Amino acid sequence: MLNFELKNPTKILFGKGEIAKLAKEIPQDANILMLYGGGSIMKNGVYDQVKDALKGHKIEEFGGIPANPEYEVLMEALKIIKEKNINYLLAVGGGSVIDGTKFLSAAANYDGEPWDILRKPVRTFEGQGMPFATVLTLPATGSEMNSGYVISRRGTGEKLSSGGPGLFPVVSVLDPEVVRSIPKNQIANGIADAYTHVLEQYMTYKTAATLQDRFSESILQTLQEVAPKVMNEEFDYDAAANFMWCCTMALNGLIAKGVPTDWAVHGMGHELTAQYGIDHARTLAIIAPSHYRYNFNSKKEKLAQYAERVWNITEGTLEEKAEKGIQKMEEFFQSLGIKTKLSEYTDDYKDTAKKVEQAFTDRNWLGQGEYRKLTPQDAYKIVEMS
Ligand code: NZQ
Ligand code: ZN
Repeated sequence: MLNFELKNPTKILFGKGEIAKLAKEIPQDANILMLYGGGSIMKNGVYDQVKDALKGHKIEEFGGIPANPEYEVLMEALKIIKEKNINYLLAVGGGSVIDGTKFLSAAANYDGEPWDILRKPVRTFEGQGMPFATVLTLPATGSEMNSGYVISRRGTGEKLSSGGPGLFPVVSVLDPEVVRSIPKNQIANGIADAYTHVLEQYMTYKTAATLQDRFSESILQTLQEVAPKVMNEEFDYDAAANFMWCCTMALNGLIAKGVPTDWAVHGMGHELTAQYGIDHARTLAIIAPSHYRYNFNSKKEKLAQYAERVWNITEGTLEEKAEKGIQKMEEFFQSLGIKTKLSEYTDDYKDTAKKVEQAFTDRNWLGQGEYRKLTPQDAYKIVEMS
C-alpha cells in the first residue's frame, strides 16, 4: 500500500430536516453571502428552508450561477463579497454552485488576478479560503466534502480545475429529500459521475490496498443497486439516501488513499464540455470505455477484478473477463439513458481529438494516468476511439 495522509475537516449533517441546523453551525455574527444556481431551489422549497433556518443571521444573496460555473458570473459575486464585507459563504445547489463558491472562497483571500489561481497546476491554492458551508441539492460530484473545484471560461473555451487544503467546506448538509425534485437526466448524470469517480481511483493496477478496493467495489455495487430505484418515478427515500452518500464517499478522498489514481477520463471529458457543452457526466461515459480499451494491457487485471467482484463474471480468461467488464460498464451507463458515443451528441466531431491533444499539450499534461505516461497523442487516440 502506498503511504498517505488523510485529513477531511468537513462536518456532514445527513438526513431529512437537517437544513434547520444550519443556524447553529454558522457563527451568529457572520456576514453571509448565499449563492445558488438558476432557481431550482425556489421551486423545491430548499430556498425557504435555508432562509428560515438563517432568519436570525445577516444574509445577502447571489443567484444565477450556471451549470459548469462561469468565471465571468463568479467575478460579479466576488465584487459583492468585497463591497459588502462578506466573511462567510453558503452554497445552496449542485456541484456547479459549490465549485463556484470554492473558487470565490479562494479568490476572496487571494491578492493576485483570480484567474491565475486556476492557471497553475491543480492544488496550488495553499492559503486558507473564506469559510463556507454547503447545502447539497444534487448528489454527483462529491464537491460537498472535498477541496477541489472546476471553473469554466466560455470566452476562452477553457474548463480548469484547482483546489487546496484550505478549501474544504466547514459544514455540508445532505438531505436526501432534495432528490425528489431532480430531473431524471440529472439523476442519471449524478450516478454516472460518482461511478466514474470510483473508476478513476480503482481502475489502475493491482496493489496491496485490499480495503480500498473493497470500499470502491461496494460504492460501485451500491450505485448499481439503487440506480433503478432513484430513476423510478416514485420517490424512495432510502434509495435517495444511499445514492447521496455513495456520491459523497466516491470523491471525499477516502478511496484514493494508498492507491494509484488515474483521472485521465476527467481530463479528456472536461475538454468535451469546454468544446460542446456536453454535461460533465456524459463526457465521462463517452471517454471511459475507450480509455479502458486503449489501456487494456496495463489495466486488465483490475478490469477483470471489477468484472468478477462487481458484476459476478466468473467465466473466461482474464482478458475475456476484463473485456466483459468494460461491456457491463457501458451497458450500465446506457441503462441510465446515457449515450456513450461522441457521435450521438454531435455531428461536428472531426477535429475534437486534435483539440484535446492540443489542450493537453498546452497545459503541459505530458504524462497522465496512473503511470504518468499517457501522452497528449494517447489522448488523441482515445478521443478518436470515442
Ligand atoms: O441551477 P439550478 O436551477 O439549481 O439547476 C441545476 C442545474 O440546472 C439542477 N438542479 C440541481 N439540484 C436540483 C436541480 N434541479 C432540480 N432539483 C434539484 N434538487 O441541476 C442542473 C445541474 O446542476 P450542476 O450543479 O451543474 O450539476 P453537478 O452537480 O453535476 O455539477 C457539475 C459540475 O461539477 C464539476 C463538473 O465539471 C461540473 O462543472 N465537477 C466537480 C467536481 C468536484 N468539485 O470535486 C468533480 C467532478 O468530477 C466534476 O468535474
Ligand atoms: Zn466527475
